[in-house]
Amino acid sequence: MGPALADVELPSKFSNQGSVGNTRHNLTQRQASGGGPSNTIMNPYRNDYEEVCVYCHTPHGANAAVQLPLWNRTIKPTSYQTYDTLGTSTLNQPVTPPGPNSLACLSCHDGQVAVDSIINMPGSGRYDPNQATSQNNTFLNGWNNSSGPDATTHLGLDAVTPSASCLACHSSTAGIVGAGATDFKAYAIGTDLRNDHPVGILYPTASGPGTDFKTPTATRANLRYFDTNGNARPDKDEIRLYDTGDGYEVECGSCHDPHGVPSGGVGSVFRPTFLRVANTGSAVCLTCHSK
Ligand code: HEC
Ligand code: HEC
Ligand code: HEC
Ligand code: HEC
Ligand code: HEC
Repeated sequence: MGPALADVELPSKFSNQGSVGNTRHNLTQRQASGGGPSNTIMNPYRNDYEEVCVYCHTPHGANAAVQLPLWNRTIKPTSYQTYDTLGTSTLNQPVTPPGPNSLACLSCHDGQVAVDSIINMPGSGRYDPNQATSQNNTFLNGWNNSSGPDATTHLGLDAVTPSASCLACHSSTAGIVGAGATDFKAYAIGTDLRNDHPVGILYPTASGPGTDFKTPTATRANLRYFDTNGNARPDKDEIRLYDTGDGYEVECGSCHDPHGVPSGGVGSVFRPTFLRVANTGSAVCLTCHSK
């Protein structure tokens, strides 16, 4: 007999190539194009909107309270514990609260809001602008899952109350549902960002040879980026800095693209963990840091 089924990093059932629909950011888990796990297990715990983009974007009625492309998600106003409050003696650069290109990720990954908390539901006329800043379960309960039971609770990636979270199944913490599902604990990053690479941190202007930082090679509107292929466009495989009013800052989107970045040509498998640059040989880090 083998060991008991542990909650480990189970191999993903998504092919992780071609489209965001074949990645872990497909929260419908339809068996569609690239395969993926059965969606019905999750039905009682989140609305299955049967579309991939809609968990993050909507063509109409988007969240205008945040500078993000056609954003469909609840962004709950939050005071994050930023990295600078850890008080390391080495940090020099000013830090502001996480900008929009971090808040987008945190709208799922800080665990405060359910993964299915959106403003405009697809094809249903169900629309609640108040969802822009707060999650209303009565509104979310109005959705009917066509693939199985309706959701009666709307869970998120909340490590603080794992039993009322996707982590109830997706973690090995004793006392909750437990076995058989991938451990998501590392993905539940919470509102305390003192243990994460700083975001909302201003990129040093004193950079280049002789300094600790490399100089981004191109600027386009509110982006500065390392234009590795020299085509004067911020491509998805290029590390970038965002200026949303506080100067060019590092945000989650600097290092990650939530849609997946092909490792080679079109259709090739995506780089791990939605990274813009594979971190082999610490290539992500060495894009910015001269070390
Ligand atoms: C898990 C959330 C998520 C899903 C699912 C998602 N997106 Fe996005 N999308 C984002 C975020 C976050 C940004 C902003 C990226 C940044 O910070 O630079 C974005 C940006 C974009 C942009 C503008 C910038 C760019 O990268 O071109 C387009 C266009 C876009 N998404 C299209 C789509 C489409 C089409 C789908 C479905 C096939 C989709 N997205 C699915 C999160 C998502
Ligand atoms: C709609 C909710 C949602 C949004 C928005 C979102 N994520 Fe996720 N993300 C998830 C969930 C749920 C998982 C858990 C893993 C899974 O789906 O198997 C995940 C997994 C991940 C993983 C691990 C993937 C792997 O293969 O190990 C990374 C990295 C990640 N997200 C980064 C981001 C970043 C960066 C952003 C913003 C640019 C973002 N996510 C926005 C829901 C979201
Ligand atoms: C009742 C237990 C249970 C709950 C609650 C649950 N899941 Fe799952 N989930 C599973 C099982 C079992 C699988 C299939 C095994 C696996 O891939 O981890 C799975 C698979 C997944 C996968 C596919 C992973 C992959 O890469 O193949 C995603 C994504 C996912 N769940 C997201 C979520 C999200 C988001 C929530 C919270 C809204 C959630 N789950 C809540 C049991 C659960
Ligand atoms: C400076 C670059 C950088 C920034 C900024 C960044 N990440 Fe990451 N992230 C990484 C790298 C590199 C990995 C892969 C780590 C590994 O594989 O060991 C990673 C991994 C992850 C994972 C997978 C779990 C894990 O710990 O390996 C998640 C989820 C994630 N990042 C989310 C985020 C979110 C949300 C933000 C913004 C708050 C963010 N990241 C900001 C570089 C970054
Ligand atoms: C997009 C640019 C960028 C990337 C990519 C990046 N960093 Fe940073 N990093 C910064 C900036 C800016 C600071 C703030 C420096 C300062 O205040 O002097 C920083 C600070 C740090 C610090 C110092 C924190 C402190 O308390 O002094 C460490 C350590 C660090 N980064 C490690 C990493 C690692 C490891 C990676 C790769 C996983 C990475 N960085 C990727 C821009 C980046």
